[in-house]
Amino acid sequence: MSDTSVPYIRTVKELREITRSWRASGKTVALIPTMGALHAGHLSLIRAGKAACDRVITSIFVNPTQFAPNEDFAEYPRTFDDDLAKLASVDCDLVWAPTADVMYPEGFATMITPKGAAQGLETDFRPHFFQGVATVCCKLFTQTQADVAVFGQKDYQQLCVIRQIVRDLDLPLKIIGAPTVREDDGLAMSSRNAYLSDAERGIATRLHQVLAAVAEDVRSGTAIDDACTVQASALVDAGFKSVDYLTVRDAHTLAIPAPDTPYQDLRIVVAAWLGKTRLIDNIAC
Ligand code: PAJ
Repeated sequence: MSDTSVPYIRTVKELREITRSWRASGKTVALIPTMGALHAGHLSLIRAGKAACDRVITSIFVNPTQFAPNEDFAEYPRTFDDDLAKLASVDCDLVWAPTADVMYPEGFATMITPKGAAQGLETDFRPHFFQGVATVCCKLFTQTQADVAVFGQKDYQQLCVIRQIVRDLDLPLKIIGAPTVREDDGLAMSSRNAYLSDAERGIATRLHQVLAAVAEDVRSGTAIDDACTVQASALVDAGFKSVDYLTVRDAHTLAIPAPDTPYQDLRIVVAAWLGKTRLIDNIAC
């Protein structure tokens, strides 16, 4: 463990120089894409990157193209100095922190539109989202020329979409999906948890509990739709404002599962509003 500071760079030219010299000395490179406001969940991805490769680059970029005009782009927490200190504590080698005009220069006009795993769920509520994520991640992959990129299972649909893009476009990198890191009461760590009031933070623990309840109900023979309906009501009864979705999907394609799908190939996914904060989570069935 080192507490010296992590170098950060803001231009593609500097990034290329550093990665070229690493590659020339035979080093492999892992990329951890983030939007900053780092917590222990992010840091677990950096540790996974370190275990897989010789060098780790963490990107910090609050990506405007994945936020709709009515979403929280302006309020999204920006804690760059704290982030650098946390990254030093896990021996991250380099921080790639482009500005918006480096990532999307004047005249930028190419977007990647994923379908398949990107259809439904988040897309029903955030139609811009995966186009923005896909485009920025493809740019991050080509900018860094990483051998490996690590994504969290916390954003399960995002992980499935990224795997699909890498497959569909023959991108020469391996995707690692890392487990969700949770608070002691089960709430999945998220930069957006900072928006919760104390009262909401108390209620938020219910999100993980209803996922576990759906898993238990489905495994004990309750029909999926019935289990989800009952547990979605439990969330509202607990104080959630509304539930965008609580459903069970095929863990690989995110399609509606065939009736005979084995439990281990099912994923339970949820998105719900607690006051003004939208929380998402998921677990294996
Ligand atoms: P962000 O929300 O900052 O998340 C960065 C990465 O951290 C994602 O892969 C996410 O799944 C992972 N992560 C977040 N909370 C986690 C937790 N509690 N446990 C484990 N991993 C966790 O996801 C994004 O940024 C953006 O969409 C991005 C991919 C960077 C593209 O802009």
